[in-house]
Amino acid sequence: MKIGFIGAGRVGRSLGQDLHRKHFNVIGYYSKTLDHAEEAVAVVGGVAFKSAEALVKACDFVFLTVNDDAIQSVVNLLLTISMRFDDKIIAHTSGVHASELIAPLFEKGASGYAIHPLQAFASVEQALKLLGQTVFSVEGTGLTHTDGQPIASTPSAQKVIDLMNRADYEHFVMLAEDKALYHAAAVISSNYLVATLDFALSQFEKIGCDQRFAMKALFPLIQGTIDNIDRLGTVDALTGPIARGDVHTVEKHLAKLSGEDVVLYKALGRRTLALADAKGLSRTLSDQLLNRLKED
Ligand SMILES: NC(=O)c1ccc[n+]([C@@H]2O[C@H](COP(=O)([O-])OP(=O)(O)OC[C@H]3O[C@@H](n4cnc5c(N)ncnc54)[C@H](OP(=O)(O)O)[C@@H]3O)[C@@H](O)[C@H]2O)c1
Repeated sequence: MKIGFIGAGRVGRSLGQDLHRKHFNVIGYYSKTLDHAEEAVAVVGGVAFKSAEALVKACDFVFLTVNDDAIQSVVNLLLTISMRFDDKIIAHTSGVHASELIAPLFEKGASGYAIHPLQAFASVEQALKLLGQTVFSVEGTGLTHTDGQPIASTPSAQKVIDLMNRADYEHFVMLAEDKALYHAAAVISSNYLVATLDFALSQFEKIGCDQRFAMKALFPLIQGTIDNIDRLGTVDALTGPIARGDVHTVEKHLAKLSGEDVVLYKALGRRTLALADAKGLSRTLSDQLLNRLKED
């Protein structure tokens, strides 16, 4: 399997480096900025291609590790290459898009996949550390699943599953129509967690604590909560005033919050209340809390 990358950014470089150290045949990189392709091959080896066409001709498995908005234009560029793509696998790594972005190349004989590492990579170094504990979703031509077990009904689908297995990447197969919700879940877990913590930090700021100290103070609480979710699941991990039905505590919070903060506190509170209900909060206390947390 001759693997090439279009896009020498964080995901392209880290995947290439990881596959190379696992003895895959990484042929090289093409990227918008030639220097970046050269930097990638300086580490991974192979060729810094001067054109996408040259890379595609040299490879049979091409990762499109470009930013989401560039995938379509790269596919359009590949369409202009006057050759058949029979037996070539083209895979992008976007979380939100399905493999249908690659569909224009199917007429040339290519197979298309979306192979998404469910992880936030801030840098190549960090990605290399995290890849071993990252779960990938895989979607595309000839791939379905039964009870989470991948079923590959074409040779190219089997090659994709073989690559995932040989690279030791934990993975699951998903369907194209599920990608938007899957990606929403990823954004909520990662980006909205950051936003929620920023919301908490801004309350510390109001009482005169700088961000650094506030983070130091809150971090053990955050870490403990995440450990509890991992061990117990969301319902049993829930603690605090809503879980206990402490209506007056919630009233005290609301009395001190203002503007958009109230809207956000109440929205998150209603979601928290649903968990408290599932945990067995009495109907009376639940109704009283809902009354305080309802939208204005
Ligand atoms: N970072 C993450 O946390 C993460 C996690 C999972 C999935 N992903 C997905 O992985 C993909 C890549 O993300 P990334 O974080 O690696 O992005 P990135 O670091 O911004 O890298 C994108 C690369 O694509 C290259 N590029 C852009 N347009 C191009 C074009 N028309 N032709 C050739 N190369 C082009 C850029 O070129 P130059 O540098 O050469 O100018 C850059 O090297 C995206 O689909 C993203 O959604 C990212």
